[in-house]
Amino acid sequence: MNAAHQWFHDAGFGIFVHFGPYAQIGRGEQSLLREHRAQIDYAKKACQWNPAELDMRQWAKSFRAAGANYAVLTTRHHDGYCLWDTQYTDYSAAKQAPQRDFVREFVDACREVGLKVGLYYSLGDWRIPAFWNGPQHDPKGWAEFTTYVHDQVEELCTNYGQIDVIWFDGAWPHSAAAWKADRITETIRRCQPACLINNRLGRECTGGDFTTPEHYIEASEGLWESCQVTTWRLWGYHRGERWKSTARLLDLLCETASKGGNLLLNVGPDGEGRLPEPCQERFAEIGKWLEVHGEAIYGVQARQLFENVSLGWLTARYNDLYLILRFWDNTGTIPLPGLLTPPDKIELLGCDAAVTARLEGERVLVENLPANPPTDLFPVLKLSFAEAPVLASWAVDGLWTGNARRYAPWAAKRGTSVWADGKPREN
Ligand code: GLC
Repeated sequence: MNAAHQWFHDAGFGIFVHFGPYAQIGRGEQSLLREHRAQIDYAKKACQWNPAELDMRQWAKSFRAAGANYAVLTTRHHDGYCLWDTQYTDYSAAKQAPQRDFVREFVDACREVGLKVGLYYSLGDWRIPAFWNGPQHDPKGWAEFTTYVHDQVEELCTNYGQIDVIWFDGAWPHSAAAWKADRITETIRRCQPACLINNRLGRECTGGDFTTPEHYIEASEGLWESCQVTTWRLWGYHRGERWKSTARLLDLLCETASKGGNLLLNVGPDGEGRLPEPCQERFAEIGKWLEVHGEAIYGVQARQLFENVSLGWLTARYNDLYLILRFWDNTGTIPLPGLLTPPDKIELLGCDAAVTARLEGERVLVENLPANPPTDLFPVLKLSFAEAPVLASWAVDGLWTGNARRYAPWAAKRGTSVWADGKPREN
């Protein structure tokens, strides 16, 4: 892994920000097209949009306090409005009402608090007929439009110091070849050699430094990042939206970590530029949890060991295992089936309870857990081993994977016939 891949792997958690003039409409980031708004009206309102409360330093502080290690801002979404001072259009925050370069403010604010900087850029621009017509039906318009896109990407990669991630989107329906993705990549590699590029530089969603499952969690071979909303489905601010609970959001983070990826959790600031209250609360709660339990999330490796669905999530750092417990049933005991080595050390993060562990048959029994969990969210048990722990052969794969026959000897201890089980039949 090179240094860029390494920081991304270790980062675990980032914040996605969908922000643009659509925030003042309050119906998500795609209302221009989804609600079939008149372009002229939308553009007029966009040019007047001036988020008076916008303070990117507050945002960055709140992201950092949430425990995020990087943040990605929509520099331009599908509506074409640009948040930075671009020389290629006057449809921007710098040239219109705010007279501010929001990308500059964002990168400065992120760096101040130690967040790595990601810039999202939508290749597609819904205002432009050539985008819809494509290279086949409007070769000249398409050539002009893609030159505009290439120039803007180069500008973003040149004027704002080190950029750590470029996050493309909106390529559909055009192929990587139509976007001349190779040239875009070359430009980025030239201007920003350490910058990571996602895999959406073309309809096919291939290539890039990391994959981007959206609204779901799916491990892949290399680096990957699941992007998820804090609300329901939309990314930009929506009035009256409902919020996922902190536990649900934390669950997404833990599941992603346990499968070896990063979570990019979204927020849509409102039209005035404020982070919605419910979101701030959730960020703060996740951050507090991470302060104590972060070692179970940052820089961990995916490792599938023994059956642990009954508990929650499992992450690993070399020979340390972290059991992220979704359940706390007050019995004081937790069985770890299939684990044949008792840990050399066991601790419940964030409390000094003298938890113990011993081997009993083909499982380790964790005992002496306190009656009350040390956190209202997910408690974490850290098990440290001097060497890689030994597992029962049946426990190496999870249930529903591997060779099913491995469970036959276990079943055979009970009986060989459905009739021989339970109460003997009376004739
Ligand atoms: C989608 C949407 C877009 C959102 C993005 C985030 O492609 O079109 O609105 O920005 O996903 O992953």
